[in-house]
Amino acid sequence: MDRRGFIKKSAMGMTTAAVSSLLEHPAMASVRKTINHNPRKDMKKIMVIDGGPRRNMNTAQMLRKVAEGVKSVNPDMEVKTIRLYDLDYKGCMSCMVCKLKDKASNVCKFKDALTPVLEEIAEADGLVLGSPIYFGDVTARMRAFLERLAFPWLSYNDYSMTAPKRMPVVLVETMNGKPMMNNSNGYGSMENCISSALGKPRHVKAYNTYQVKNYDRFELAAFSEPAKRKWREEHWEEDLQKAFDAGREMAEGR
Ligand SMILES: Cc1cc2nc3c(=O)[nH]c(=O)nc-3n(C[C@H](O)[C@H](O)[C@H](O)COP(=O)(O)O)c2cc1C
Repeated sequence: MDRRGFIKKSAMGMTTAAVSSLLEHPAMASVRKTINHNPRKDMKKIMVIDGGPRRNMNTAQMLRKVAEGVKSVNPDMEVKTIRLYDLDYKGCMSCMVCKLKDKASNVCKFKDALTPVLEEIAEADGLVLGSPIYFGDVTARMRAFLERLAFPWLSYNDYSMTAPKRMPVVLVETMNGKPMMNNSNGYGSMENCISSALGKPRHVKAYNTYQVKNYDRFELAAFSEPAKRKWREEHWEEDLQKAFDAGREMAEGR
């Protein structure tokens, strides 16, 4: 077995976190180079948009893993995370400035805290969106962000959807429901806009998440904490791994 195969085989028995922290050690620099797959050299910057209110819970953790996956392929890639709940902005104001004759723009011109973020996305090389599912859909913040992102893409001349640049997209969702409940519309109609304008997105979903850290403190009798814990023990690492892989494959251009 060659060196590359040996390293890969040894890593297979370890968790993603263990492999990542081991590889971060300075002495592992040459190993990092060996196992890194081919980064897409033309990709310089990935924008990660966190549409959940909680800084360190399920959605944020999944998004951090996507970012880690990107970095595992190309440590020099800029990965910028924006937390929508930290910004003061509105959804589309229907100002129609993006559709002005001779001045039409496929980047929103309405000025508020979201404006620079939308401008950065227009020039990025990849986009990662994450949201918890609220009443079957992404959060209101994520939806408002998507209105501002996508309305300027839409031509009212011919209904085409054109972003400034096409790029790989990962859509992350976390939710209480289990897969068989099928209780999430996810990014809904906005996904069609993203597909047309940026490219077909890749999905990463975490189901039956732990909604609170301590179920004893809350009125949550509809949930069995032991069943939740068991699900988490069986699925959470795998969910994080899927998020990591999505980031890795984005950076590899796969
Ligand atoms: C207002 C609200 C509405 C929710 N609605 C749903 C829902 O419709 N379906 C679902 O599966 N989970 C629902 N959940 C649960 C969250 O989607 C789930 O716990 C998610 O993983 C939370 O993400 P976070 O830990 O990043 O905040 C809801 C939670 C809240 C607070």
